[in-house]
Amino acid sequence: MTVWIEGATGKAGRRVVEALTAAGLPVRAASRHPGEASGSVTPVRFDWYDESTWANALGNADAVFLKGLDSDDEAAAIITRFLAEASAVSRVVLMSAVGVDRTPNTAPRRAVELAVERSGRSWTILRPSWFLQNFDEDEWVFARALRESNELYAGTGASKVGFTDTRDLADAAAAVLTREGHEGRSYTITGPERLTFGEMAELLAKTSGRPIKHVDAKPEEHRRHFEKSGRPEAWVNHMLHLFKLVRAGVFTAQTDDFENLTGRRPRTPRQYAEENWQPTPQR
Ligand SMILES: NC(=O)c1ccc[n+]([C@@H]2O[C@H](COP(=O)([O-])OP(=O)(O)OC[C@H]3O[C@@H](n4cnc5c(N)ncnc54)[C@H](OP(=O)(O)O)[C@@H]3O)[C@@H](O)[C@H]2O)c1
Repeated sequence: MTVWIEGATGKAGRRVVEALTAAGLPVRAASRHPGEASGSVTPVRFDWYDESTWANALGNADAVFLKGLDSDDEAAAIITRFLAEASAVSRVVLMSAVGVDRTPNTAPRRAVELAVERSGRSWTILRPSWFLQNFDEDEWVFARALRESNELYAGTGASKVGFTDTRDLADAAAAVLTREGHEGRSYTITGPERLTFGEMAELLAKTSGRPIKHVDAKPEEHRRHFEKSGRPEAWVNHMLHLFKLVRAGVFTAQTDDFENLTGRRPRTPRQYAEENWQPTPQR
């Protein structure tokens, strides 16, 4: 089996590439800016908004890992066309997000889930919670403000979140791609404990020795914070919507799905922090 991985240079896709190559599978690693080939990984240029890239990127893949298109109203239509053209692909694993199944069928991400379910392929949906890697790898969401001003900007109130390590999401993806019995099923991939963003800021502060503080910003202040650093309006609206969902408790979900799929406990926020937030040595 050759697996085509979308978003292969991103926080999740990169780890899915690693998990599948570790499992001995050839991988086609798709993104707009592919890197260098190595081992069983073939990087391929792919752009959702340039259909001329689709067929070459897919090549001989017979399974796909889809990240989907976030807040684009056309996402479901685009993915339906993509899967219709991908006639050799028999297995589809979609990375969605916690709570998407409880949104209206017309919401872009839910519409993508339904498009995959109706694609006529063997499908599995993974719904992870907020990624721990947003704190150190996602410049736009949290990493830049944390680095520049020790601020964890998140208008999330006191709601708890079952943060997911993207390495666990990747191991779950490898499990459902390489083993039988997951067809037509959906799994919610969360961490083993729930923290508020305030507790997360305390954990990062304690581990790094830095004065990191949670800024529980109101939506308008949050909008100004994001817009100040040039984020596009559609992205800002999408993020503010996600913070609203956190406040509403949508990401408080915690399940055993990861452990049932892989036979081990998911990584804790503390493990993530200890691996990524150690104090920087003084020169
Ligand atoms: N972040 C979270 O906390 C979280 C939680 C749950 C679910 N999710 C889901 O995970 C997804 C985001 O995954 P991620 O955090 O791994 O992404 P990411 O780190 O933002 O990476 C995005 C990836 O997509 C590629 N890409 C961007 N635009 C593209 C386009 N037009 N055509 C083809 N490839 C494109 C990027 O590479 P190039 O720039 O080279 O194209 C990159 O590989 C979202 O859909 C979200 O719903 C995220």
